[in-house]
Amino acid sequence: MEKVNLKNLKLKAEEEIKKISSLKELDDLYRFYLGRKGELNKIFDSLKILPLIQRKKIAADANDFKNNLNKLFKEYKDLIKKEVEKTVFKMERIDVSRPGREVKIGHWHPIIKIQREIEGIFESLGFEVVFGPEIETEYYNFTALNVGPDHPARDMQSSFWIDEKKGLLLRTQTSPLQIRYMEKNFPPFRMIAPGRVFRYEATDATHDIQFYQAEGLMIDKDISVANFKSVIHDFFRRLFHPKIEIRLVPSYFPFVEPGFEIYIRDKNGKWLEVMGAGMVHSDVLKRVGINSGEWQGFAFGLGPDRLAMIKYGINDIRLFHSSDLRFLHQF
Ligand code: PHE
Repeated sequence: MEKVNLKNLKLKAEEEIKKISSLKELDDLYRFYLGRKGELNKIFDSLKILPLIQRKKIAADANDFKNNLNKLFKEYKDLIKKEVEKTVFKMERIDVSRPGREVKIGHWHPIIKIQREIEGIFESLGFEVVFGPEIETEYYNFTALNVGPDHPARDMQSSFWIDEKKGLLLRTQTSPLQIRYMEKNFPPFRMIAPGRVFRYEATDATHDIQFYQAEGLMIDKDISVANFKSVIHDFFRRLFHPKIEIRLVPSYFPFVEPGFEIYIRDKNGKWLEVMGAGMVHSDVLKRVGINSGEWQGFAFGLGPDRLAMIKYGINDIRLFHSSDLRFLHQF
């Protein structure tokens, strides 16, 4: 009876060991058969009550079984170890030919994007990029630009006053940079001054209390409106497309003479006003010590918000400051 048990046990062990898939399972199985309280020891224990001859025979069989099983366990242990190594290797393998994982580093705001583009185009035309303070004095923002204290043009640009007594306000335009630049530099020169400006106005889809401008200034000998038109047409061709049409319309700004507004024609044939400009007024030149008989030039003020809206098809200027990522991630 013990013999049959041994045979069955042997078959059962061989069956079970084939189904093993991990070292842990193998270990458990080993303990079940060959452990201190395992099946095999149970057989050895039960021998005590048998007659000697029978005992010897079964003990010999049981020892054979034990040795075979030990061998089998060792084989399977090596096999499983190899399998495990293989899968670990597969998992940890680095395929150096795969494209890298994309690291999100953010991106430029559409306004900054267009500002950089504007700077790039003018830089390639020999313009120096300069910046100025957002808190301005009344003198630079208005008076030096021919807009004296009682000039009605002050009302055209309702201001955020910081300290009216001291004459401090948030600049309503980048034009004060014309004055600041001309005080420090002697012609000939070309500069572009981008930045934020502020107006105390009601907001709607095309007006915000803060927006951007890029002031341009070129002073040299024998500069005329024709030079301006050529430079600015070149700029728009490069910002939009080579066939873009522009149009100059007479307008009034106190610090230029003559002054104009510039329009570009959109896809639908509509004329859109995109900037103010003009020949720098001789009074302004005189104020900064430049002889207007010898030097002349043009100044202009671009609206990056407006240009970005046209270029990217944005229909509401307030989106720029909405912090809406669904909007911002499109650029
Ligand atoms: N500063 C003017 C404005 O904000 C634009 C302008 C700039 C006009 C330079 C002429 C020359 O409306």
